[in-house]
Formats: sequence, structure tokens, C-alpha cells
Amino acid sequence: MLSLRQLAVNDAECSRGTYPHPPASPVDNLSLKPPDHRHDADISPPPPAPTLARMTPQPNPEVGAAVKAADRAHVFHSWSAQELIDPLAVAGAQGSYFWDYDGRRYLDLTSGLVFTNIGYQHPKVVAAIQEQAARMTTFAPAFAVEARSEAARLIAERTPGDLDKIFFTNGGADAVEHAVRMARLHTGRAKVLSAYRSYHGGTQQAVNITGDPRRWASDSAAAGVVHFWAPFLYRSRFYSETEEQECARALEHLETTIAFEGPSTVAAIILETVPGTAGIMVPPPGYLAGVREICDKYGIVFVLDEVMAGFGRTGEWFAADLFDVTPDLMTFAKGVNSGYVPLGGVAISGAIAQTFGKRPYPGGLTYSGHPLACAAAVATIEVMAEEGVVENAARLGTEVIEPGLRELAARHPSVGDVRGVGMFWALELVRNRETREPLVPYNAAGEANAPMAAFGSAAKAAGIWPFINMNRTHVVPPCNATEAELKEGLTALDAALAVADEFTQ
Ligand SMILES: Cc1ncc(COP(=O)(O)O)c(C=O)c1O
Repeated sequence: MLSLRQLAVNDAECSRGTYPHPPASPVDNLSLKPPDHRHDADISPPPPAPTLARMTPQPNPEVGAAVKAADRAHVFHSWSAQELIDPLAVAGAQGSYFWDYDGRRYLDLTSGLVFTNIGYQHPKVVAAIQEQAARMTTFAPAFAVEARSEAARLIAERTPGDLDKIFFTNGGADAVEHAVRMARLHTGRAKVLSAYRSYHGGTQQAVNITGDPRRWASDSAAAGVVHFWAPFLYRSRFYSETEEQECARALEHLETTIAFEGPSTVAAIILETVPGTAGIMVPPPGYLAGVREICDKYGIVFVLDEVMAGFGRTGEWFAADLFDVTPDLMTFAKGVNSGYVPLGGVAISGAIAQTFGKRPYPGGLTYSGHPLACAAAVATIEVMAEEGVVENAARLGTEVIEPGLRELAARHPSVGDVRGVGMFWALELVRNRETREPLVPYNAAGEANAPMAAFGSAAKAAGIWPFINMNRTHVVPPCNATEAELKEGLTALDAALAVADEFTQ
């Protein structure tokens, strides 16, 4: 059998044109020239011109099989029973699409794990990474490095209020770890309040802050975390009938929780500005401002987790901008550089930065502000500004995704709720619209999850890669997706929802 490397060489040769094009393969639709609006401004150095070899995927099932075999033999995957998974071998990706080694192409409605906010392989960001690699691939965190300084400046320019200092991490979970550590040291208090129906990361403290089943196996019951209910009208814990009631009752519940926990024990309240994996529940007007007031009243640090909602996803640079709220600490990752190189961070207010003005901050990372990751962040932020990516997310969210999803909901009885903003949407699938019984039970697996599995298979057969969590599918395409791509996604969702409808009563 050929080694993976030999197979890859053969694959490259095929891509240079000796391998026949598969007739009518969907991958043939990939244009050699990316859409104009994404690549129209000059930067130095110019991005390498797209070539046939880089951009035209050629089916090569033999390489795909070898990639898959090595994966199955040696890769240990996140959150999975290792023998029960069947990862797709991916041959390449461009813009809003990726494709496998059999020549099947998918429109990625997941943006990876909601991080490719400018799509895959944006040439300006690829060029910036290449240039940084040639100039200074890495450097220790104690030094002032151009890419790091510039990334921090560009991020701080966009964060709300006085969140002007940036502590860089490797991703979202460690950003949450450090935000909580800063809050505890700043207040001298131990407890953290966070919401049920939330996700804050897979490391020990972050997963204990998380308010969904991913916490359970690692719940030490000693992490100093108390969970409360945040507003969510569709499945209200407060028997509310309006957003106003839900907002007022959720705030009253939070303040009562603090009173009974003891305000002087609470270091931080942490919330996803718009909860993501847990269901894309856009908070009602006034809720986050109310939490801000409660934090101020009791001297509690307000942490907003923008790891998923930040960097254009909601049609604003940060979701906090939608609500005109400034937290004391804000975590970010994912979209900061479209996930091209691992990067996350905490944006820190003046007061908390001051706590560590003369006293050392007891925390750090070998790769804090890694030059390659920061160069990718600088280029991503520049691309987003030059190409109007945030505006694109806001406009197409309002003009295409929302009306498209509402029209699907009107025709498909399996759609119980449509909610979201920008390029951040969820469809809640139900067995029965009246009772709102979820299409599958909470945290279902195996046979109990069959309806969502059938929906997922139908979506893939229709050419989209769907984001599925419990009884929901999320529509979270790249923030620079085009109107035509979104319409293609809606058409495929239409076909997949017809399968979900078969499980309704
Ligand atoms: C809101 C939120 N916080 C934190 C994280 C953890 O980020 P990472 O997986 O980069 O550690 C995620 C990941 O999905 C997230 O959505």
C-alpha cells in the first residue's frame, strides 16, 4: 500500500491536470476566481494568484481511504466514543465550501465550529500567515512583537468601553479560565454564577461553568460555580408570555440567587452575550443592561463570553454592541482570525488591568500572542473591515436568512421556533408545535436521536453540512457568505426538513 505522503504526491499530480475531471461533479462549480467582493482591495504583499492545483479539487478516494485509516488508527477525537464515530475525510476547502476525496462538495452551514467567519482559505489571510512565517514564525510572550502589538491594538479599538488591554490565549476555554481567575483576584471572592443552557469550554474550570450536559462528567462540585436560568421565552422557566415578563422575571431570579448565595461571595457573573451552542437565544432588550446594573450594585465582575458571538457573527463586531452593554471582561477566540491559527483572549477593563498594575498577574501561556496567530488576526480584521463582512452578516441575516427560515417554518410542521440575528440562527425542531415537545429528548443518543440523525443525513445528501445540537439545527454560515450561497442553503434545508416532518405528530 502507498504511504499517505506518496498518495498525496499522486494527488498533487492529478491536480495538475493529468487526472480526468469527473463529469458533472458538484465540485466543478468551484470558480477559480473567488467572488469579487471578498478580494477587491490591495494589500502588500499581494496574495498568490489562485492556481488550478490549489483550487480545483480532484476526487481521489484512495488518498481519502488512507487519511481515514490513519485517523481511525491514531486520532483521538473530542467529545466522542472513539469507536462509534465515522469522521469524513476532507480533501479541501474554499470560501463557504469544503469537499471530500470522492468529489462531494458541501456548503458549510457550520463555519467549522462557528469560527470561519471569513470562510476558508481567504487569500489575504493565507498570505499574511505565509509572510509572518517567513519573517518571524514564533517568539516568546515576554517580548513586544509587531504582529502581537498590532492585533491587540486592532481588537482593543473594536471592543466596547474601556476594554483596552488584551491578554492572548490559545483558544476560548483558556480565555474563560483566565477571565475567571482575574475576576476572583480582583474581587477577592470565589464564586462564579453562570447560566444553564450555556457552553464556556472544555477545560476544567470552563466546563464546570458550562450549563449543559458536557459538564456532567467533569463536574467536580467544587469549582465554585452556581448556575441560574437566563431568559429564553420559547421554553420559559418563569411561565412568561412576553419578552418583557421574561426579562423582568429572569433579572429578579438572578438577583434573588445572588441574595441567597451571599453577594459578598460572588466574584463574577459570566454569560454568553448570545448563547451559541446551547441554542442561540438572543436575550430580550434590557436583560444584559439589567445584569450590568446588578453587577454594579454588588461589586460583581461582569464577564461576557463572545467566543462564538464575537467578530461579526451577530452583524456587529461584538454582540455586546447589539445591546449597548460594556462588561468588565470579555472573552473572544474563533472569529478573531477565522480560526486559521489557534487564538483566543480576554479584553480587560481599565479597573481590572489596574489590579495587576503593580501586582503581578499570576498566569500565563507559552504561546500567549503567538505571532502567526496574531498576524492572522490582523489580516482577518483588516479583511473584515475592507470587505464589509460585519455589514454583510447584518444585511443578509435580515434580508435573506430570517425571511427564508420563517418561510420554511411556515411550511414545515417540524419547525417549532426560529430565532437569531446576523449569521447566527437556530431552528428548534419539535414533534408537535402546540406542545413544543422537542423532536428528540434532551441529550438524546442512539435510537432516541434517530429523527435528528435522519434530518442530518438528509441535509448532507442535499449538499449542506448542518450544525446539529440536540433537537436544533443552527444556521451559522461564514459571515461573508453570499446571497446565492444562503439561498442554496435554504433550498437544501427545505429538503432536509421534509424528512424531519415525518417524525411530527
Ligand atoms: C461561548 C464559548 N465559549 C468558550 C468556548 C470554548 O472555546 P475553545 O473550544 O476554543 O476552547 C466555546 C466553544 O465553542 C464557546 O462557544
